Amino acid sequence: MIIASTSHQLTDVIGQCRRQARPIAMVPTMGALHRGHTSLFDVARRDSAFVIATIFVNPLQFSDPSDLESYPITLDADLELCRSHGVDAVYVPTAAVMYPQGFSTSVHIDGLTEILEGESRPGHFNGVTTVVTKLFNACQPDIAIFGQKDFQQAAVIRRLITDLDMPIELVIAPTMRDEDGLALSSRNVRLDAQSRVLATNLWRGLSAALNQFAAGEHRAHILIETVRDHCAAPGILLHYVAAVDTETLESKSQCDDHTVILLAATVGGVRLIDNVLLSFQ
Ligand code: PAF
Repeated sequence: MIIASTSHQLTDVIGQCRRQARPIAMVPTMGALHRGHTSLFDVARRDSAFVIATIFVNPLQFSDPSDLESYPITLDADLELCRSHGVDAVYVPTAAVMYPQGFSTSVHIDGLTEILEGESRPGHFNGVTTVVTKLFNACQPDIAIFGQKDFQQAAVIRRLITDLDMPIELVIAPTMRDEDGLALSSRNVRLDAQSRVLATNLWRGLSAALNQFAAGEHRAHILIETVRDHCAAPGILLHYVAAVDTETLESKSQCDDHTVILLAATVGGVRLIDNVLLSFQ
């Protein structure tokens, strides 16, 4: 497995892939890898692609400095997981490589980035779109794999790829969950035992809304109320629950199978997000 700390160290291997007409599949991460990430590596390996994982804790996308400071760093274990899941190359730049003195460019997308997560975390998506553009330039992927758990992020990246004519296929891979339904996240390790139990209410609420939808209830405010009811417990601070269009993220009053219910909540001091795609079956 190649470990590169600058984009130049990837040039030869990218050239080789091009000559062999071998697709490059990229999985961007901030490390602290878990089963959610390894499932993305497994998707990336499809069609014998050359798999590049990136590991970079991007300071630009943290609006709260204490959140950045407490972000778990587990590089040795991360590299081991990459190796054991068939990743061919890992790009691990430092902040100085990504943002050298004088760096002053920001990639901004209007609209989609200003609602939901964007409202609670100003500047967050500018950080994401800026770093992802740089990572795409470094890795030159044909395919990029993002997780459904960060649904709004995936919608923003779809916009980025379309608007800037990037020749990249976006694949959104399903959310991995623990047995009790909690969506896997690098932040889960910060939940204490009591909050870990409380946090399962989030998925319980979303899956209750999904069942209600499948049973014929399509009014958004009723489905949202169902999620809210499940999250109405002391210790859960709900930031938003929204039923929105899967592409534009515009609010819906009547839900259909292009609707996703998104939520964000703080449980035991840890900010969590989750979502469910509505489907008729
Ligand atoms: O989802 C993440 O881990 C990050 O937002 C990403 C896409 C790697 C950009 O830093």
